Amino acid sequence: MSPHAEAERGSGGLAVPQARAAAGVVIDGGTKIAARDVSVFYGDKQALFDVSIDIPDRSVTALIGPSGCGKTTFLRCINRMNDTIEGARVSGVIEIEGKDIYQKSVDPVVLRARVGMVFQKPNPFPKSIYENVAYGPRIHGLARSKSDMDVIVESALKRAGLWEEVKDRLTAAGTGLSGGQQQRLVIARAVAVNPDVILMDEPCSALDPIATAKIEELIDELRENFCIVIVTHSMAQAARVSQRTAFFHMGSLVETGPTEEIFTNPRDNRTQDYITGRFG
Ligand SMILES: Nc1ncnc2c1ncn2[C@@H]1O[C@H](COP(=O)(O)OP(=O)(O)OP(=O)(O)O)[C@@H](O)[C@H]1O
Ligand SMILES: [Mg+2]
Repeated sequence: MSPHAEAERGSGGLAVPQARAAAGVVIDGGTKIAARDVSVFYGDKQALFDVSIDIPDRSVTALIGPSGCGKTTFLRCINRMNDTIEGARVSGVIEIEGKDIYQKSVDPVVLRARVGMVFQKPNPFPKSIYENVAYGPRIHGLARSKSDMDVIVESALKRAGLWEEVKDRLTAAGTGLSGGQQQRLVIARAVAVNPDVILMDEPCSALDPIATAKIEELIDELRENFCIVIVTHSMAQAARVSQRTAFFHMGSLVETGPTEEIFTNPRDNRTQDYITGRFG
């Protein structure tokens, strides 16, 4: 974050409980991520406008909206990936489990292990299947021995639903797997460091329907243990995998609520128009 943004946020940022009270938001015990008045600027251009949302733990929240509305920009705020973009500036507050993730004491590298990210295009490292999964646990010192690491790798690959397909070729290149397998490998890599949150930016858009179904099934299993935020352009996918949906339009969060409600009884005309295919 730039010094300017830090100044704008004030020392330690806005007290979120006050902001919540001001916003009239009722908090349940299950809130994992709380965003308050989050704005993002790329140079002079504002891409996100005062987004406030509570994202619950152990559930899937879908971010939907027309291209360019700020879904990826918001997702990148949650693991401070915008820090890596030249000229990007974030204001507002994002807390994970009550802790402001933009505070100076937070190491973005550690944060990004706690908040894993899966991209549209699977991006395995040019390493073996085993090493792809072992990489994170190794740099974060999670395994004391080779056998510790073997256990971590096997368990992550099992959680990602890939173990049976790769257990006999762990030393083969990760990049040699099919697209759907690569995406599950990347998910295994994220899961291996025991994250709190998994962010997914259109994780199925490069996959065929069968691979997509597998990833959706996996997301449904992972939500028992993780807070998952997924960007999708597919209304059907949002309806299938998410419990809550947030609709963005032109950089603003228009509305958020239980997925069924957003799809059957949206409050805002823009949401209605989008989900019925009138634009986007
Ligand atoms: N690195 C960047 N530099 C400058 N502007 C950017 C950058 N990334 C995004 N933007 C702009 O910010 C706005 C929001 O973009 P973002 O990628 O968040 O949208 P999106 O909802 O994810 O769209 P899509 O559905 O096409 O992926 C757009 O106007 C985009 O051009
Ligand atoms: Mg995007």
